[in-house]
Amino acid sequence: MTFTLNFGIVGLGGISETFARDLLTNPLDRGVSDVNHKLVAAGSSSDKKARDFLERVGASSATAYSSYEGVYNDPNVTVVYIGTPHSHHYHNARDALHAGKHVLVEKPAVITADQMRALAQLAQQKHLTLMEAKWTRFFPMLKEIENKVHSGVIGDVKQVHADFGQTFTGVSSDHRIFNLNLGGGSIMDLMPYPLIWVFSVLFYHPANKLCKPSVRGATCIKNQYGVDEMTTALLKFPGIDADAVLSSNINVGSISTLVVRGTHGELVVNDLPLSRPLSYEIRLRDTTNPNPDDQQRKTTTYHHPIPHHGMHWEADEMARLIAAGESQSQRVPWDDSVLSAELLDDIRSQAGIKFPAAIESV
Ligand SMILES: NC(=O)c1ccc[n+]([C@@H]2O[C@H](COP(=O)([O-])OP(=O)(O)OC[C@H]3O[C@@H](n4cnc5c(N)ncnc54)[C@H](OP(=O)(O)O)[C@@H]3O)[C@@H](O)[C@H]2O)c1
Repeated sequence: MTFTLNFGIVGLGGISETFARDLLTNPLDRGVSDVNHKLVAAGSSSDKKARDFLERVGASSATAYSSYEGVYNDPNVTVVYIGTPHSHHYHNARDALHAGKHVLVEKPAVITADQMRALAQLAQQKHLTLMEAKWTRFFPMLKEIENKVHSGVIGDVKQVHADFGQTFTGVSSDHRIFNLNLGGGSIMDLMPYPLIWVFSVLFYHPANKLCKPSVRGATCIKNQYGVDEMTTALLKFPGIDADAVLSSNINVGSISTLVVRGTHGELVVNDLPLSRPLSYEIRLRDTTNPNPDDQQRKTTTYHHPIPHHGMHWEADEMARLIAAGESQSQRVPWDDSVLSAELLDDIRSQAGIKFPAAIESV
């Protein structure tokens, strides 16, 4: 039996459109037959924007609302996908949960860790499913990399360098990325992805035993709008005795995005963006040669094409969780979202980025 999940979407910007298109693809294209999705409602700042959106993505029979409340209160809607700027996620998610809807909220789910704790508590009280839309966690390629690194293919992991740079130079100055009131800057927009990868290969490594990392330093360069244009953070994972360098940049796009260094070699993602790479390499040293400078290296490349954009996998996860009556995902549990929000709080604080109190409130 196929379980069909009825989605409502609020905040009809760029990523909501990508998500909606993926939602409406044929699950069989990705080998999925147990769940399917329907887009039944969309809520926006204007009725016309909602109708145009639904028409564009091929869901013109869905209901268009000129408010988000219309979606929250629509009895046909089972789950609300929130695609507003980060500054609005907490309040939108809270309103949807209060209305009795399950919630899939874009990354970063919140501005502060306290907000994530409050959302998790509310979802638990109301027996509703809540998940941060960390779509990359559901990619088959990420799972394969996780398995290889955890099973010691590159030896003991010692260091990770994860970088996400994306050029926003052609974007108008009133874009949310340049607005502190909307949680702008590279830390909140891009750093969640270096964190996703570092969590996968280090935090969830069995040897780490879920030991929390600490931020040993973070610094940024601000632009003329006062948001961080570029940030670098150093993290220590004491449980596995490994370090991570995380960087994000809204000025320069990066192609080489991830290097995982182990005692036998490296796993390298030489593909962009870090949110959706399609290939990786494993470079192994000939460790039988005692001189590291003379060791031969063997490189193998692995390709993982993604059917459509790849956001459907997180939608499938929501459908399976709701069908099973589960409040949270094992791949993106609430503790995962709280931990990434705590680290982002710390990185911002050490880098000297302060948001207006209004968007940090609980
Ligand atoms: N998963 C990913 O790969 C990915 C990629 C990009 C972005 N994101 C995340 O998704 C969220 C939205 O990003 P986006 O690039 O889609 O943003 P966007 O294109 O600017 O759209 C955001 C939408 O939110 C609504 N909104 C409500 N209050 C707003 C305000 N004060 N200012 C601007 N818009 C407001 C608007 O929709 P209405 O007019 O319809 O209400 C707007 O179209 C962000 O949190 C971002 O981090 C995720």
